[in-house]
Amino acid sequence: MNTIELKELLHSMSMQEKIGQLVQLSGDFFGTDEVSTGPAAKLGIEDWVSTHAGSVLNVMGAKKVLDIQKRHMEKSRIPLLFMADIVYGYKTVYPMPLALACGWDPDMVETCFRYTAKEAVPDGAHVTFAPMVDVSRDARWGRGMESPGEDPYINGLFAKAAVKGFQGKQDESEPWMAACVKHFAGYGAVEAGREYNTVDMSRWRMTQEYLPPYKAAIEAGAKMVMTSFNTIEGIPATANQWLMKDILRDTWGFDGVLITDYAAIQELIAHGVAQDDKEAAYLAMEAGVDIDMKTPCYANELIPLMEEGKLSQEKIDEAVFRILSLKNDLGLFEDPYKGISEEKAKEEANASTHRDYARYAATQSMVLLKNNQVLPLKKETKIALIGPYADSKDLTGLWAVYGDKSKVVTLKTAFEEVFEHVQTEIGCDYLEDTSTLGDFGMIMNINSGVQGTKEENLKKAIELAKWADVVVFALGEHVLQSGESGSRTDLTLPENQVEFMKQILPYTKKSVVLLFNGHPLVVTNWIDEVDAVMECWYPGSEGPHAIVDILVGNVNPSGRLTVSLPYTVGQCPIYYAAFNTGRPMATSIHSGRFVSRYLDCPNEPLFGFGYGLSYHTCSYGNIELSTNTFTKDERILAKIKIENTSDVKGEEVVQLYLRDIAASVVRPVKELKDFKKVELNPHETKEIVFEIKPEMCAFMNQRLETVIEPGEFEVYIGPNATTLNKAIFRYK
Ligand code: GLC
Repeated sequence: MNTIELKELLHSMSMQEKIGQLVQLSGDFFGTDEVSTGPAAKLGIEDWVSTHAGSVLNVMGAKKVLDIQKRHMEKSRIPLLFMADIVYGYKTVYPMPLALACGWDPDMVETCFRYTAKEAVPDGAHVTFAPMVDVSRDARWGRGMESPGEDPYINGLFAKAAVKGFQGKQDESEPWMAACVKHFAGYGAVEAGREYNTVDMSRWRMTQEYLPPYKAAIEAGAKMVMTSFNTIEGIPATANQWLMKDILRDTWGFDGVLITDYAAIQELIAHGVAQDDKEAAYLAMEAGVDIDMKTPCYANELIPLMEEGKLSQEKIDEAVFRILSLKNDLGLFEDPYKGISEEKAKEEANASTHRDYARYAATQSMVLLKNNQVLPLKKETKIALIGPYADSKDLTGLWAVYGDKSKVVTLKTAFEEVFEHVQTEIGCDYLEDTSTLGDFGMIMNINSGVQGTKEENLKKAIELAKWADVVVFALGEHVLQSGESGSRTDLTLPENQVEFMKQILPYTKKSVVLLFNGHPLVVTNWIDEVDAVMECWYPGSEGPHAIVDILVGNVNPSGRLTVSLPYTVGQCPIYYAAFNTGRPMATSIHSGRFVSRYLDCPNEPLFGFGYGLSYHTCSYGNIELSTNTFTKDERILAKIKIENTSDVKGEEVVQLYLRDIAASVVRPVKELKDFKKVELNPHETKEIVFEIKPEMCAFMNQRLETVIEPGEFEVYIGPNATTLNKAIFRYK
């Protein structure tokens, strides 16, 4: 339809048709099972609402979607939108987003999500509730696993790549689905890392550090935005006019659809800013929210609000028109069943191209944290594979709601395909006390499948350890210990697993730990006792094949952290781009007690941003600048020679950070501004050239203006955020 026809449709719609467009219902309103990604609640709405509902939440499957859409079109002239949490894969599951970000490769992210759209669209998806790009600096928060991490620049690149992947060319050439960037805004900064908790910070910090990734998604063309559960400046995001109107609509010019998170409108009452459903509906409409996800507020209260003269027809029409426009962009008016095909869905699900790429992406996403010359392993090595993840398919994480877990490779299978002598012992469960975990989506309470008594399992494991050349421990969080509603105050591995491992270690010759987890973990309490550790995150359908590719040396690991791993949970929130303070521990004019420090712990994380080991080693030369001063419209070329000082070919993530020494507001001690992932042959030296542009020196001043101030800057180029390899330049 063209705009005129769309406007004509809008003006021909009844009030119930219009209000229905603003309501999203779950599958149980359409006679099908629902994937429950939030509290189940009966809504108390009238039948006309489901007759005229605009969209459906988390119902997927070609046959099911066709059936629902057909039945809907018998009663309505406006097709339903099917929206679902297709966050990091559909049937083929890629590594969780935090893992993908550790690959430092936006093109890889885009490809993963392009393949995801190819699987999900034939199966009925119109909109995906992704990418999630919340800056996440508190490891206690469970949803950090869905985020690209702690850095606005990395999260922005991820946001752009994801939107391009999901939405593709938005034409007939390839299947595409609308991206819904979330959670707007600042959800990753919940106080104390506690789920759904208060967020409060200055507009200055919010604009500088937390908003940029959402803006990147919108600049990349994201067609939808989801409001977050948290407050900002005392106003829940879903009713926050500064966020939703001043920033999102007026400043950024977003004219797409704004949907709430699950039940967030009605939760304005619990927040204490709305007396009842009617006031909640009013506040959300005033903030410009278009779709009410799964509450009765819009359904039951918008017409009474209009009748009381509190809500204009114009405001309703604006919201309805944005939704009609999205349906029109997707071609649903011409064909409500566009792109849906059971046959195509079956053909694309777990297609070998997708699985091969999932394997590649997993090899790029894992981070080698420690290696005391034990990796890579020879194929003839005698390996005891021990731990709750040794023979597990629970490798896709909390938000792989539609992942085909039956097709997930297990470590045992992958090891036995390559290594000549493998013996496997699960030995213990993921977690002994699962009473607080609850259920999520299709993830009911799961266990590792361990059988027998603790004593029997320990005895068997010790026998295996004695036999083996190397013990590979496959340990990690219970999958329900991270993700939504997965905040933790203790970030160590489950106690039963650490105890089990420590009882076996005395009998091992060499030990390797593979970690499967969503939180950035605290590994301080055992890492010194083992020879190697690899962070595997939740690596997806092909994770184990990728792990073996790395362990046997077919792939040289190149993953680098995009979050900080704390020494202890007491350091949270912890992140590299911190402000220097007036008493920095390393350089303060004071000494001894009176510096910024803890009495019982270093200031630094155990493993910091940008960190990761490889099988090769690399040396970094000095930084050469093409000039030491520049001004607007000019550039500085920063050159550095890096040498692969080993006999192993590998990829090095060369990272460039800037520091503004003195400005009108405090500036972080380092900020990532660019990076290059460079392949180096053994003993090869390459000269890497970065362009330092004036906009890299820009920041938000106290008046929230983006400025570049004259002054001295330090440029750092190195393998991670701790690099001291620097040069100095001035911006005039
Ligand atoms: C959940 C999540 C959000 C998800 C939505 C729909 O509560 O916060 O990320 O997209 O509800 O399932």
